[in-house]
Amino acid sequence: MEEIEVCICKRITLSDLLQAIEKEDINDIQTLIEKTGAGTVCKMCISPEEDPHGERDIHLSELLK
Ligand code: FES
Repeated sequence: MEEIEVCICKRITLSDLLQAIEKEDINDIQTLIEKTGAGTVCKMCISPEEDPHGERDIHLSELLK
């Protein structure tokens, strides 16, 4: 489950992101992007709004709620 790649472009997994969020106490998406590099290429993993065809199962915005 935690080895799911959330950001396919940068090969960043769900566990990478959850660890970063917890360790660095991240609560906004811009910081999550800056700290991890996720969401810096195609941007579809950022949020459902950035992914109109539903090509990513999980988005960064959903991890912060
Ligand atoms: S999947 Fe994250 S930037 Fe493309």
